[in-house]
Amino acid sequence: MPSPKRPIPPDARELLFGDLWEYDPAPESAPAFIEPRYGLFINGKFVAPKTRNYFDSISPRNEEKLSEIAVAGAADVDAAYQSAATAFTSWSKLPGTERAKYLFRIARLLQDRAREFAVAETLDGGKPIKESRDFDVPMAAAHFFYHAGWADKLGYVTPGRTLAPLGVIGQIIPWNFPLLMLAWKLAPALATGNTVVLKPAETTSITALKFASILQDAGLPPGVVNIVTGAGETGAAVVNHPLAAKIAFTGSTEVGKSIQRALAGTAKRLTLELGGKAANIVLEDAPLDQAVEGVINGIFFNQGHVCCAGSRLLVQESIADKVLSKLKIRLKSLRTGDPLDKNTDVGAINSQAQLDRIRELVACGVAEGADLYQAASKLPAKGFYFPPTLFSNVAMSHRIARDEIFGPVLSILTFRTPEEAVEKANNTCYGLSAGVWTDKGSRILKMSTELKAGVVWANSFNKFDPASPFGGYKESGFGREGGKQGLLDYANLI
Ligand code: NAI
Ligand code: MG
Repeated sequence: MPSPKRPIPPDARELLFGDLWEYDPAPESAPAFIEPRYGLFINGKFVAPKTRNYFDSISPRNEEKLSEIAVAGAADVDAAYQSAATAFTSWSKLPGTERAKYLFRIARLLQDRAREFAVAETLDGGKPIKESRDFDVPMAAAHFFYHAGWADKLGYVTPGRTLAPLGVIGQIIPWNFPLLMLAWKLAPALATGNTVVLKPAETTSITALKFASILQDAGLPPGVVNIVTGAGETGAAVVNHPLAAKIAFTGSTEVGKSIQRALAGTAKRLTLELGGKAANIVLEDAPLDQAVEGVINGIFFNQGHVCCAGSRLLVQESIADKVLSKLKIRLKSLRTGDPLDKNTDVGAINSQAQLDRIRELVACGVAEGADLYQAASKLPAKGFYFPPTLFSNVAMSHRIARDEIFGPVLSILTFRTPEEAVEKANNTCYGLSAGVWTDKGSRILKMSTELKAGVVWANSFNKFDPASPFGGYKESGFGREGGKQGLLDYANLI
């Protein structure tokens, strides 16, 4: 019989969710097959970087070294572009049915190795294994399947017009969904006949480099995809290379702006998927328990390292106390800790730098007078962890209501009328996503047209599908990924 660790709480509902019962550890045990050192993937082969430099990739789970990653310099990036340009001449002329075969093969090979990739993603980036296993890896495969289906049907995207590939695409991706962002970028680019130079984020390069072996196994012609690793300097070399026909970037608004400035006056196309500060709006007629689940998922999924995270809860004043107490109860049942444990809900923060940023913004929230709530939790001694956090009594002027925290921190604000909710939701420099929770279908339709966000979820949050275009307004960027709209961002219409 497990014994209670603390007195029975006065609120009987806590018995359902409370921390009276301990779980045994349930670590995922499949091997991740991570090489001790990775070179650059250029022209279908792994090569040593001309810089001869490598950096350590550590696991945010316990700060242990996982592998050494090559630093690509300007000469390496140039070799990658030359190889992609050579490959473009034949890849762009392949019939769509042939390109589709490669994409289908890649999707199936990824499915075959799904468990291995999930473990590698969790070790390298810190996200809970249940998310990498049930979301990141299957969704990455789904993007390749979806775009494989389009490759021989491009004539139907815009009937009467032809989609022509752009050329060599430079792609720079972030660390929050490393493999999934790779899939979002590669699949539409390849389906439309482009070739690619891709740069993963410096803290999470491993699954991209493992993915190179899938490209080899799929027999993808050398040079169609090249992967160069390194930090901001390598990224800048990818952006500024004269052979790039387009740059596709996902990351911070700050770097996105610098890329836009760098490309001004060039013929290069650009799509940017940047930060967000999404409002999750809960009206008084909403099904509250479902809404609370959606709010919890909206902010704590992937430790809140999500550009479309529902990081601002806008709750109608009449139900604010009720929702806050439900959220507090739910928070107590979230398990934060070892991401490799199958029972973990909130894993490790991706890096020390990101942890420092979250701490700074949370300290700012306290200093500005918002009320902080964290459920008691035992965090691992080693590694980068931050407890799930709620801030109530937040004002629109607070930094925690305006800045993207990109961590497990929810800022709670209230409103009286739906008009005020829309006004507050739109009062941000961002516009990536929003959520509306209400019983009234007509209200959903009205509010979704008034909310300036690329995606508006109704009585749900964080739902994704390769057929559904994703992208932002305002400082959240421009261009779309997924669906027909995403294909158009990788093609010239002729
Ligand atoms: P970042 O924008 O620096 O990193 C994203 C990617 O851009 C990485 O691959 C990085 O190596 C590359 N990069 C950095 N400087 C570059 C440059 N000058 N030219 C070309 N590429 C460059 O983001 P960081 O510093 O890791 O995170 C800072 C904040 O940005 C986070 O706290 C979060 O608020 C936001 N962010 C938003 C993301 C999103 O999905 N919208 C993803 C990552 C970060
Ligand atoms: Mg790492």
